[in-house]
Amino acid sequence: MPFARKEGLKIRIRHADIERRVRAVAGQITKDFKGQRVHLIGVLKGACFFLADLAREIDLETSIDFIAVASYGKKKDSSGQVRMLKDLDNNVAGLNVILVEDILDTGLTANYLLRILRQRRPKTLSLAALLDKPSRRLKPVKGDYIGFTIPDEFVVGYGLDYAERYRNLKDVCVLQPPPQ
Ligand code: PRP
Repeated sequence: MPFARKEGLKIRIRHADIERRVRAVAGQITKDFKGQRVHLIGVLKGACFFLADLAREIDLETSIDFIAVASYGKKKDSSGQVRMLKDLDNNVAGLNVILVEDILDTGLTANYLLRILRQRRPKTLSLAALLDKPSRRLKPVKGDYIGFTIPDEFVVGYGLDYAERYRNLKDVCVLQPPPQ
């Protein structure tokens, strides 16, 4: 029996559907930045699978970098603080920066990172996320490139974890009952 089934996980978005959407999002990026270079910034760790697949479907000169943050209190209220754990390796001034997230939830992380990145004077700044849970928003954030809009369910897989588990699942699955 597959590991996810043994764990009682229910498939919510199949890998084939993820692949199809990733190709479509990459196609849109390729069109929007025709003839230019894009610089993808992945937010560790959840975004690394999406970024890796997205980057390979973009038909443009593409560079990548990673950033890591820690959030506190975001599950409870809007006072959640975000702190940087690992900064970028490279300067983004003058680049077409696309911040790449696995999921937009409360919006605290993306809101904080977009603010920081804007201060560094990229040529353009956009936001891509595989999943968007708009019903959970505490800070206003709008993705420019969204894979799937989903209801408020606890999802894991394709980069998303529960206590560091399940990131390597190919499908996005629902954890039931949700963790307390
Ligand atoms: C998750 C996810 C986003 C953020 C979204 O990261 O990868 O970065 O939360 O939530 P928000 O919109 O409420 O800020 P997490 O802090 O769980 O770290 P991880 O990527 O290492 O799992």
